[in-house]
Amino acid sequence: MSLRAASITTFLLTIATIVNAKEPRQVQETGGIFVGSLGCKSSSCHGGAGPKRSQYFTWSEKDYHTKAYAILLNARSDRIAESLKITAPAGGPPAAATSVRCTVCHAPFQSVAASHLAPTAHPDEGVSCESCHGAASGWLRGHTRKDWTYDTRVGAGMRDLRSLYVRATACAACHQYLAPELLQAGHPDLFFELDSQSVAEPKHWKDDEPWSGLREWLTGQAVALREMSWSLSSEPGNDERSRARWNGLAWLCASATTAAAISSPISQPPNAPAQSDFANMQTQADSLARRASVSNWNESSARSLLTALASLDGEFSARGTAAPILGQRAKRLALALDRLVNALNKDRNFRLKVEAELRQLFDDVKTLDSFDASSFATHLKAFHEALDKTG
Ligand code: HEC
Ligand code: HEC
Ligand code: HEC
Repeated sequence: MSLRAASITTFLLTIATIVNAKEPRQVQETGGIFVGSLGCKSSSCHGGAGPKRSQYFTWSEKDYHTKAYAILLNARSDRIAESLKITAPAGGPPAAATSVRCTVCHAPFQSVAASHLAPTAHPDEGVSCESCHGAASGWLRGHTRKDWTYDTRVGAGMRDLRSLYVRATACAACHQYLAPELLQAGHPDLFFELDSQSVAEPKHWKDDEPWSGLREWLTGQAVALREMSWSLSSEPGNDERSRARWNGLAWLCASATTAAAISSPISQPPNAPAQSDFANMQTQADSLARRASVSNWNESSARSLLTALASLDGEFSARGTAAPILGQRAKRLALALDRLVNALNKDRNFRLKVEAELRQLFDDVKTLDSFDASSFATHLKAFHEALDKTG
């Protein structure tokens, strides 16, 4: 092997190792072949009118995921690619649109081996049906048969997205972990929270269960904690910011599971964690995610958790915890309060009664560089008082 070829091989291996070590597999290859969204579009299938057949249109016309590839062609992507020194051969698509560092989340078919792509699967179709539902070759023909149950379809390789545990894991693959270099290069920060992101996503499925939002919220937080713990445990030289983020989320999950007496508790994270603490947390968070995905909520359990979390102001006035950690805790807490208020907002007036105080908390955590723990504590107290007045 020539010296040049050898060094290219080493280079490719290095990239493969970096990608494997730090970035979770975005699209799990189930061994099936991806057929592409055109395979789902026929009007008698998911490309028709009416709620039962309109999934293709909901996705292609309203869903952000359709644009995931196109984003890689814009000027912001050019700048990100430039600062990462990603280059592309002249005359072809811009660097970001061909680099696995971007396409792995924005155009997943590009990272799938050609032997697993049917000719109908367009490599540029963004995050499409099978990115979430799994490669369709095993179930495409059979899944409409009357004698096929949901379990038959899942057995044939369709991802069990009705399970919130599986769903949160599927979304988190692209929405949770971003390599720190990408963040430094100007990529927007990723912050996974299944409940609000499921609300933001134009749903192409039925969800009329009144308390599913809280189940999604807690499952999503637990899965995010598991993924963060996993990536920190596999990265001995992890940075302070990632550890503070981890601490914030672990603290929230610990506080929530204690307050709600959930049977898979999370222990309070140490301020100076050892590598083994991340691996332990990963196990705890996975149990919590499984437990949370089948948790039952009602008015009184939601209300008591909200009150308990609103009573944590003392944690922000106490000394001894570093400011960046307190900022991350506050940010997670504000998001949690928001999801609980949302779940309890069955009569539209509830949110209105605490809206101003909640908005203040969000303002406090908007830019964590200037986070002021003692004024957050004061504002949390005000939120708690407003909550008490709602009776
Ligand atoms: C781990 C998955 C992942 C990787 C890897 C990734 N992105 Fe993203 N990217 C996302 C997600 C998720 C969003 C949406 C963030 C949001 O709005 O909450 C996003 C958003 C963006 C946006 C902003 C979109 C907008 O609406 O303005 C740009 C630009 C972008 N990505 C470019 C890139 C480039 C360039 C790369 C490669 C260097 C890359 N991304 C790698 C997941 C990823
Ligand atoms: C971002 C992830 C994602 C993408 C992309 C996606 N889906 Fe879904 N889909 C889901 C989730 C989550 C559910 C809810 C769980 C379930 O009902 O299985 C769902 C449910 C469905 C359902 C069941 C509807 C119901 O009410 O029971 C159908 C059919 C479906 N999707 C078809 C499609 C088609 C066709 C496409 C592409 C045009 C697509 N999906 C793209 C995530 C996705
Ligand atoms: C294969 C990677 C991938 C998967 C899986 C995925 N997403 Fe995304 N998602 C993206 C990318 C990339 C973007 C950025 C595209 C854009 O903003 O137009 C995005 C954007 C979004 C947005 C709009 C930006 C934001 O954060 O508000 C929502 C909402 C969203 N995804 C929800 C979900 C949910 C819910 C699931 C799971 C059911 C999911 N996604 C699964 C890659 C993915």
